[in-house]
Amino acid sequence: MSSPFIEAFFDEPTNTVSYLVGDPATRAAAVIDPVLDFDPASGETDARSVDTILDAARNAGWRIEMILETHAHADHLSGAPLIKLATGAWIGIGSHIRDVQRIFRPVFAMDTLATDGSDFDRLFDDGERFALGTLEVEVMHLPGHTPADVAYRIGDAVFVGDTLFMPDYGTARADFPGGDARTLYRSIRKLLTLPDDTRLFLCHDYKAPGRDKYRWETTVGDQRRHNVHMRDGIREDEFVAMREARDATLAVPRLLLPSIQVNIRAGRFPEAEANGVSYLKIPVRSKPARP
Ligand SMILES: [Fe+2]
Repeated sequence: MSSPFIEAFFDEPTNTVSYLVGDPATRAAAVIDPVLDFDPASGETDARSVDTILDAARNAGWRIEMILETHAHADHLSGAPLIKLATGAWIGIGSHIRDVQRIFRPVFAMDTLATDGSDFDRLFDDGERFALGTLEVEVMHLPGHTPADVAYRIGDAVFVGDTLFMPDYGTARADFPGGDARTLYRSIRKLLTLPDDTRLFLCHDYKAPGRDKYRWETTVGDQRRHNVHMRDGIREDEFVAMREARDATLAVPRLLLPSIQVNIRAGRFPEAEANGVSYLKIPVRSKPARP
């Protein structure tokens, strides 16, 4: 089994890991889940994180041909458009992004949003394969966290998106609109049927209690034996009850509202208003005063 070149880039403000993945034979490369730095208080974006990846690729002679999103993230804005602009790479995501677009279009009254996935350059179905240089990328549809989550299997490595976290931390939440704990359990079971020594690269790390370093690489065997939510033998109903109880305690991610509006359009901001400025929306849900 071939091993791709892999370099990880950790964004501490959003706990997100982006990856540069390359085919050593041809220098063709993919960027997975790039982050656009965004300050919601000022509305300012910054290309710091994207520049770090672009510089690393340039310095090592990697030719970025594709940008792969594991899902429409709710915790950071995608840096995909900036990488596309700089390199000409195309942007791909799971084809069920159409479901996510259909779910959120009315939430944000995004009347101009196409719900056919056409904001993205490529949509992947479960099991689809495509080439990264001489390497093959296989798409695994792993819904649950969102309906559109996919993992990308490249040689002996799988980029799992939001499914599993490190074994000492557990699994992704499943309470966003369109998410489902039972579906997540089944997706993770599918992921864990891969060979034990398959390397898994995670989308996030939050440092489990007692651990002082961020980590994002593990193996199928490690997850099967040690994942605190998904160890061998845990039953579906048991997982669902645990996951739903835990999700009920989790706060709304700080960047959820801006992230969703931007990421379901492949990282594009809404069209600028007449004054040339693009605006994001906040749906207001008021509680009435006590009588
Ligand atoms: Fe996510």
